[in-house]
Amino acid sequence: MRVAFLNPQGNFDPADSFLTEHPDFGGQLVYVKEVSLALARMGVQVDIFTRQIDDPDWPGLASPIDAYNQCGDSLRIVRIPFGGTRFLEKEKLWPHLPSFVDGIRKFYGADVPDYLTAHYADGGYSAALLQHATGLGFTFTGHSLGAQKLDKLGMTETNFPEWEKRFHFAQRIDAERLAMQRADTIITSTGQERREQYGHTLYQGAVDPGDDGRFRVIAPGVNSTIFTDLLHDEDKASHDILETRCGDYDGPFVIVSSRLDAKKNIGGVVEAWTGSAELNRTAYLALFVRGLDDPFNELGRLPAAEQEVLRPILERIDAAGLRDRVRFFNIQSQRDLAAAYRFFARRGSVFALTSFYEPFGLAPIEAAACGLAVVATRNGGPSEIFDDGSAVLVDPEDATSIAAGLADALARADDLGIRGKHRVLSRYTWDQTAREYLLTMEDNLARERPLLPVAPLDAEDRIRAYLNARN
Ligand code: F6P
Repeated sequence: MRVAFLNPQGNFDPADSFLTEHPDFGGQLVYVKEVSLALARMGVQVDIFTRQIDDPDWPGLASPIDAYNQCGDSLRIVRIPFGGTRFLEKEKLWPHLPSFVDGIRKFYGADVPDYLTAHYADGGYSAALLQHATGLGFTFTGHSLGAQKLDKLGMTETNFPEWEKRFHFAQRIDAERLAMQRADTIITSTGQERREQYGHTLYQGAVDPGDDGRFRVIAPGVNSTIFTDLLHDEDKASHDILETRCGDYDGPFVIVSSRLDAKKNIGGVVEAWTGSAELNRTAYLALFVRGLDDPFNELGRLPAAEQEVLRPILERIDAAGLRDRVRFFNIQSQRDLAAAYRFFARRGSVFALTSFYEPFGLAPIEAAACGLAVVATRNGGPSEIFDDGSAVLVDPEDATSIAAGLADALARADDLGIRGKHRVLSRYTWDQTAREYLLTMEDNLARERPLLPVAPLDAEDRIRAYLNARN
């Protein structure tokens, strides 16, 4: 079996050089990489198609073909030149996607793969174009849908032109609707994602979330060789550094390691922790901020949007007089992250992710796999992942709920650590994810699906009507 992954945004390289450094280099890249690696291990020939970037600010993404060392020829990263040579944010890729598709067609010539799997709206749109040209079938994994983002940003009729200029929602939602209509199967990480996200008014007529024949819930997994509670040989060096950073303090921490993005609601954890004397007496706070060793003195080195998130957090810590109980850790790689999780798990610490909404929640399962007790948002995937009580779920909008959740988890960190780890290892591994993908693709190849007629590209009108009806 030969499979092509379509992932125009971000990029991939064997060293994972830029993971989490930019929203376009986030969890989706980990997802695509890990499913691809697991499929390759199962004997599938995989190509990940992405964009060629020849930009001094983003080195290492210029060669047309690359590979993950452990996979040899069975997994190729294929970089197609389109939209110039410099890095472009995903919102700016839309006009260039037909060139991406042309590049993929040229790359394969007549020797096309058996099946496509498309990721995010831009990948879905590209797959629909490629299907039109070649007849190949595809699965669509949305990762994050435009309708929910538009809601979360608080789009109104008044700010529509401004947000539209920046985020191109009309193009994105048209692309998503097209991908939903044309995909053989839509893959979601949870049943909740299927019901809530695909049931949005803006997708009506493109897909029916109640149609079992169109959906498959396939949960993502953890890389269980990296994220494990077993100590690695190389842990010693990083644990020594962490030990030094902790100084005389040998108690537990509340750990936050999300991207500096407003929707992750790091401020909610900080508000809860600074606001509860019992909490900040019981546990110090650890904030993992990639790229900075000392955010109080180096804030200006971050991009403006990240400064906006971190500044009020630093101010709140200072206003509470708690600077000496906070440690910042500049964690550079997934391996260092896992080593840090193991270090903190051994101190009875708690990992917190209190996003306003989390479509799935890869970060808490990675932390749980390393033995950390988890406190997670009740909005989105974590409520399904941890529905057996193996993590504490909280209301992200309510600092009192977060504080109570953190206190509860700290009080029974050892028990939660064991239960969370078992939950993750029994259900959430990439090998299981890849097996499900393979079954889905094989099922789809074995049956005929007539192509539905394509509805007009009218998302802009739909968005306007939706915003108007909400007023
Ligand atoms: O990496 C996870 C992810 O959901 C990607 O799919 C996407 O790049 C980003 O985060 C979210 O994008 P958006 O904010 O445009 O929905």
